[in-house]
Parts: sequence; C-alpha cells; structure tokens
Amino acid sequence: MASVDVGVGLLGYGTVGSAVSRMLAESGDEIERATGHRLTVVRALVRDPAKNRDFAPGDDVLTDDFAALRDDPRVDVVAEVMGGIEPAGGYVRELLRAGKPVVSANKQLVAREGADLFAIASAAGVQLRFEASVCAAVPVVKVLRESLVAENVHRVLGIVNGTTNFVLSRMARGGTYAEALAEAQALGYAEPDPTDDVTGADAAAKIAILATVAFGSRVLLDDVPYRGIETIEPAHVAAAASFGMALKLIGIATLTEGAVDVRVQPAFVENAHPLASVEGSSNVVVLQGDAIREVTLGGPGAGGIETASAVVADLVSVVGTSGTGFLQNDACWRELPRLDPAGWRAPFYVHLAVADRPGVLGHAAATFAKHDVSIAQLVQHLEGGRAALDLVLHDAPIGSVEAALDELSRSPEMLRRPFIAPVIAA
Ligand SMILES: NC(=O)c1ccc[n+]([C@@H]2O[C@H](COP(=O)([O-])OP(=O)(O)OC[C@H]3O[C@@H](n4cnc5c(N)ncnc54)[C@H](OP(=O)(O)O)[C@@H]3O)[C@@H](O)[C@H]2O)c1
Repeated sequence: MASVDVGVGLLGYGTVGSAVSRMLAESGDEIERATGHRLTVVRALVRDPAKNRDFAPGDDVLTDDFAALRDDPRVDVVAEVMGGIEPAGGYVRELLRAGKPVVSANKQLVAREGADLFAIASAAGVQLRFEASVCAAVPVVKVLRESLVAENVHRVLGIVNGTTNFVLSRMARGGTYAEALAEAQALGYAEPDPTDDVTGADAAAKIAILATVAFGSRVLLDDVPYRGIETIEPAHVAAAASFGMALKLIGIATLTEGAVDVRVQPAFVENAHPLASVEGSSNVVVLQGDAIREVTLGGPGAGGIETASAVVADLVSVVGTSGTGFLQNDACWRELPRLDPAGWRAPFYVHLAVADRPGVLGHAAATFAKHDVSIAQLVQHLEGGRAALDLVLHDAPIGSVEAALDELSRSPEMLRRPFIAPVIAA
C-alpha cells in the first residue's frame, strides 16, 4: 500500500527540535511500516536561520517568519518545541484555529494556559497533545489517557524533576546542598540558574498537568503549593536514612472524597517504596487506582533525543487517530473542588532544634498532643547544650501539625524553625 506523506512543522529547532528532526529522518522507515505514513519536517521556525544546528534540516526548512510556517499548505501537523509562554502560546493558538493539530513539549504553557488552548483545539476539531511536557521520555500521559481510560486513578506520586533528584541522591552519599548542586551544575544536570528546579516550580507545573489528566479536572499551576530543596541539610538526609527512608522531592496529587489536593515538597520515602530507590536524574511516576492498584513508570526525564521520543510518539498518534473520532483534546470533563489544604493528611517527619533543658521534650510532646497529633518515633541527638529531635508523627492533617509547630516555634527553647516533610509509606 502506498504511504501517505505528512508534512511536519516545528516551532523551534533547538535541542529538542533538532532531535525530533533527526528521529523522523532516521526512524522514518519504522514509522512508515507501523503507520503507513511518512513524516517529514517541511518547515521549522527559529530566531536565527543562519545558526549551526545539531542535525542539519533540509534546504529552505528554517525560517524566522511564523507566517511562512502557518500558511505553508504542506504543514499538516506542528510540534511546539520552542518553550516560553509568548510568543509560543500565540503561535499555538493561531495554528489550532487554522485547523492544524499541535503537539507541545512546553510544561509552562500547558500548565498555565491549557484550559484556553484545549478550548480552542476543541472548537477547531483538532488535536493538542502534550506527552513531552511531563517527564520527557516517560509515556505517562498516554498511559493515563489511553491505557487507564476506564480506571479510577486516585493518587499520583512522582519524582518529576531530575535536577533535584540528582542533588538529593548526591547528598545521600554525603556533602552539603551547595556541594551537591555545584556538582550537578558541573556535570550539566543543573542549569547555571537552577531556580526553577530547586524551588520546586518545575515539578509543580508537571504534577499540575498529571493531576489534570489523572482526575479529569483542571489543576492550574497556581493551585499547587510547592516547596523545594534549598533548605535541606545533611542532618535531614541522615535522619531519613536512620529511619529506613530516603529524602526525595515528590509531587503528590490526591483525589480524596471528591476533592483534589496537589502539592510538591520534600518527603521521607520508606525504602521499600518504588520512589525511594530512584537515583540521579531519572523521573519515576507511581499511579494508584482501584483496579490497577499501583503502576510505576520511569525513565529519562530530560534530554534532546529523550524528549524527542515523546514528541514523535505524539505526532504519530495525531496522524494515526485523525478522523477516527478519538480526539485527544481536553482531558477535563468535570470540575472537582480543592481539598482544604490544611486537611491534607499524612504521617510526618519533623526536625526540631531545641535547647537541651529539662522539660523541653515533654513540652514538645504535650504541644503535639494538644493538637491531636501523636508521635510514632523519636530520636534525640545532643550536642553542646543543644538537642536535635527527629520525630515521626502518626497520620494527621497537615494543618494540625503546622499549628503545633507554630506554637512550639514561639517558645524560647526552640532554636530554629522546624523542618517538616510528609512520610510516604511503602
Ligand atoms: N531540553 C530538554 O531536555 C527538554 C525536556 C523536556 C521538555 N523540554 C521543553 O522543550 C521545549 C524546547 O526546549 P529546548 O531545550 O529544545 O530549547 P532550545 O534548545 O532553547 O530551543 C528553542 C528553539 O526555539 C527557537 N525560538 C525560541 N524563541 C523563539 C522566538 N521568539 N521566535 C522563533 N524561534 C524561537 C530557538 O531558535 P534559535 O535556535 O534560532 O535560537 C530554538 O531553535 C521547551 O518548552 C522545554 O521546556 C525540553
């Protein structure tokens, strides 16, 4: 059977864009065998067409004129691999309105402006896919939307930022946060300006997208409180190890009693849990649901060719499902309320730095008890008139634990602000 030619437009021809171009060229035969379609890059928008590229595009492919791509009749489908909110968002809107399906690798755009973009795609009757925007090579969006279409997923846990996982893995082998971050930067695992990663902002965008897909209800980036890893100290990492756990930055999305909670924070993960052993820059997502119980997906969460793998898969899916009625537009079909953030429950680890005086331990225990929080484990370290208390608390609402800690923080024996992290049981 003769194959069908499909023209691909790229918004961007940088690390990911050039890798998409390479993959379509080098795997063209495999894609054609599987789909009956030959995908070829016919136009790519860049800032500087004269720049050297990792994989040379064909003649006259590069342009710095968006209209030349938008109006090119050979462009059947577009991959947005440019990044940023504008002009990428405006371009995607124009393309969707012009009836061109789009796939995007841009987590910021999907997490911030997804609702509007999906409404436009839906009105135009074209697809907007976004697998590469979360965890690069790991096909988690497709699994949630296709393989688990009939499944009631109620919890998503993920290590969705490779930079922070590299830093925390490094700290688990010894050293300070600053030393681990410097090593990550030297090895190219962290950007020269790592703010987005270390503050948890990048992970928040990704877990917002995953929660939206998993629960079918829009979760905006602004709905996701996040804490990063900048305040992690070697003592916290050592405490995790002493309790048989690993300290990880975790995105947690929970659907409980019809309400949604999504957050990012450092967490103590029991060693037997699949997330505890995730080393280096890998991404791993755990999906929990009624029938599946637990499914774990993992792999490279960044990199040009790794991300291109997801972009190409989305392009193939667009081509393969066009005209079948299986339109993958907005994943949202309901509007679930947000759980009161103070009502989110977990067991918690707490680190208290206190003066080593009689009665301090009793005061801490009494304060937790007053807020209906009970202590499961306690380890005390003494050093030069100071005491470090490492506590694991029984399951409790975070609001109660924070209220107890606020009260304790006001007492003179408390030397520093307490550190708190939820415990993820195996
Ligand atoms: N790299 C990864 O590991 C990775 C992983 C997952 C997701 N992503 C996402 O993939 C997207 C692309 O990332 P990347 O690493 O490939 O970025 P990149 O290497 O910086 O490439 C960006 C491309 O977009 C073009 N571009 C940027 N602004 C433009 C504008 N205003 N007008 C025209 N062209 C413009 C650039 O043109 P010039 O080349 O002429 O400068 C470049 O070709 C981002 O959304 C990123 O978050 C990346």
